[in-house]
Amino acid sequence: MTLLIPVVVQAQSAVCWESADCGLNHQPVQFSSYNIDSTLLPLNISKTTYANHYSQNFPGLITAIHDRLMLSDSSGNMSFINGDTFSEAGFPAIPKNNVTLRDIKYKEKLDSLFACFHYQDGTDKTHHTALSRLLISKNISGSNMKWVVLYDTNHKDIQPDNCVLDVTDSKVYFIIGSLKEGQSELPYAQDKENSLGKSFALDLNTGKTKLLATGHRMSLGILSRTNGQVWFTENGERGGDKLSFLESGQNYGWPLKISGTRYFRFSKSIKNQKEEATPFTEAIYNWLPSIAPSALIELNNFHPEWDGDLLIGSLKAQSLYRIRLANNHIHSIEQIHIGQRIRGIQQMGKTIFLTTDEGSLVTVNVDERRLNSNTALPDMPGGSSLGLCVNCHSFSHPDVTSAFGPSLAGIFGRGIATHNFAYFSDSLKKKSGIWDESSLTSFLLDPQNFAPGTTMKIGVKLNSEQVQKIVDILKILK
Ligand code: HEC
Repeated sequence: MTLLIPVVVQAQSAVCWESADCGLNHQPVQFSSYNIDSTLLPLNISKTTYANHYSQNFPGLITAIHDRLMLSDSSGNMSFINGDTFSEAGFPAIPKNNVTLRDIKYKEKLDSLFACFHYQDGTDKTHHTALSRLLISKNISGSNMKWVVLYDTNHKDIQPDNCVLDVTDSKVYFIIGSLKEGQSELPYAQDKENSLGKSFALDLNTGKTKLLATGHRMSLGILSRTNGQVWFTENGERGGDKLSFLESGQNYGWPLKISGTRYFRFSKSIKNQKEEATPFTEAIYNWLPSIAPSALIELNNFHPEWDGDLLIGSLKAQSLYRIRLANNHIHSIEQIHIGQRIRGIQQMGKTIFLTTDEGSLVTVNVDERRLNSNTALPDMPGGSSLGLCVNCHSFSHPDVTSAFGPSLAGIFGRGIATHNFAYFSDSLKKKSGIWDESSLTSFLLDPQNFAPGTTMKIGVKLNSEQVQKIVDILKILK
């Protein structure tokens, strides 16, 4: 359903703390809600898409300030969002020329908003990456707040590619990207004379910035964990997407050595002769095929089943990845399909908020009702043999894909082998028609007889009474 609501724009000069003071200038145009059963927890997913209030794309940058969710686009237009209500944050603009905001993070303990951004010097036109801090307090009005520059680096005529940051009580960790390799003998990311492709730690007490590591390509997520470790995600070339542990003195290799292969080629490096001589730090994990990992958070006080796990967004796989670590090793990775390109992640209490490139704000909550009912089967009586299906099929949202089988939600009336599941056999694809009472019954009674060569194996032979019960349930599973 599409709602068209007139958009009321109200100019805001002061910081908008209470929703009663805040202008309503952004309305949802689309809303959808559904469930996904992940292994440990059933989830409620809600997607809200908003009318385009922003001059550029939907704001992908997300943080939480004083229990309020704040979004920003790359031009630095910051808004608080509360349910359906967007309101200008009223913070001063970053006082630089041509600002491209890359990351923001609010740190409660320091009552400060930190921003990592690129800008172009108004006078000499050089390109810079800078880190600034805005002290925020309910007692300060917007016009008295001032951005203070903590770090500024001059890339001269090279346009920098990205910057991500995370903040602890006393430090800011940040990584400056370097998609560009540079033409000289030493690529940008390897040359300590510049800050491209490097990670840094800025000490908030001394104001000093220390180089941590070299050889970064494009990181969209950095996380300082509660145990003090710093982790980051990185977008490599083919098969080079990784999760790594950030440590001082390391060289992560780009572009001399990469964990995947070069785009359009099978070779792993551009400068083979250097590969042997220089020690490079391997990632903790590499995704094959590439998923384009984005934001990275650690879950705390979300739900005991997930607390302590990392959550990573993915652009390409349009999924969340929940990662369980055990002694700095990956214990398990669970892919949770969301169906949009996930850019930013913010946990606020028992809700996880996602921003997507498709312009949605997605919320993820535990479905307590289903968790308490303690069954991954549909809420319907008489479905005991459906338990045979859940290892391969989901009964939640029809869009949910898995590598093992298509979703069975909405199966009745659906064309045979028309779901977005990628691995239908030729045998099933060759069948025409839809799934109705008669086709479902004959498929489930004898899959091989219905479609010789089908890759579906139920494991047992169902009798006609069991099949009838299953078909009755599939009929009403939307
Ligand atoms: C071991 C994994 C597995 C189990 C268990 C399993 N399936 Fe399947 N199912 C598949 C696969 C794989 C396909 C695709 C088969 C093909 O392409 O030939 C499939 C296809 C289907 C389809 C056709 C879907 C479409 O969109 O065309 C239906 C209906 C179906 N399964 C129902 C069931 C039911 C009901 C059960 C439980 C009684 C079950 N399956 C158990 C793996 C499984």
